[in-house]
Amino acid sequence: MNDFLKISGLCAQIDDNGTPKEILRGLDLDVPKGEIHAIMGPNGSGKSTLSYVLAGREDYEVTGGSAHFMGEDLLALEPEERAALGVFLAFQAPVELPGVNNANFLRTAVNAVRRARKEDELDAVGFLKAVRAETKHLHMSDEMLKRNVNVGFSGGEKKRNEVLQMRMLRPKFAILDETDSGLDIDALRIVAEGVNSLRGPDFSALIITHHQRLLDYIKPDRVHVMAKGRIIHSGGAEVALALEAQGYQQYLEAVA
Ligand SMILES: Nc1ncnc2c1ncn2[C@@H]1O[C@H](COP(=O)(O)OP(=O)(O)O)[C@@H](O)[C@H]1O
Ligand SMILES: [Mg+2]
Repeated sequence: MNDFLKISGLCAQIDDNGTPKEILRGLDLDVPKGEIHAIMGPNGSGKSTLSYVLAGREDYEVTGGSAHFMGEDLLALEPEERAALGVFLAFQAPVELPGVNNANFLRTAVNAVRRARKEDELDAVGFLKAVRAETKHLHMSDEMLKRNVNVGFSGGEKKRNEVLQMRMLRPKFAILDETDSGLDIDALRIVAEGVNSLRGPDFSALIITHHQRLLDYIKPDRVHVMAKGRIIHSGGAEVALALEAQGYQQYLEAVA
């Protein structure tokens, strides 16, 4: 039985100018340890909402179902506690933090996770050494560390920065929500290489994407099709190919 990430019947809504709007409508999803899964689905199906709910963003109200991570009730935990457990979220639109130095931000995040794991915190020198090894690996200029978090970063730089955060934090489970458009091939490669570089028995990921291309690089263990707030079909890599060839209609008709 899978006891890594298990989502059952998840329902969530958002306040839409005073009216509750139901977005997730009984979503079931299992991601076993060490597996990389992908979610594809039409715009508006609730993919980003799922990643926000798992991250603990407070504007979403969970109205039913459950999400357990390594036996813990994920939805009952504060966002920091989720991070400490090893959950990492890369958002579709990474937040810009004017006035917050990128290196300091990263060091604070890394040390918070290290404290939670009962590991020694990194001092300035130790952190710099670790982060320089990663920027080199990612072909990132160290100048990006001195800038404010994501402020004025290009799409590709934001993705690189996200992958840098992910590699520094060494999560057990990462959720990557891709932009719906505008990801150039270089940015796709950066994300794919970042995910592939962490592949192993202790790393799992959920990749939310519109890009068949990304999945060509990542080769997910399973592909899920999401529509209207639920997973409506799951299969192997062939699902992504079928979507590319024939679109979502084939799956939508089956649940209509
Ligand atoms: N803050 C919000 N207020 C009102 N509706 C929202 C809000 N956020 C998301 N939605 C709606 O919820 C649905 C799902 O959105 P989203 O999770 O972004 O889907 P996806 O990522 O699959 O495109 C859409 O119809 C969207 O308009
Ligand atoms: Mg989205």
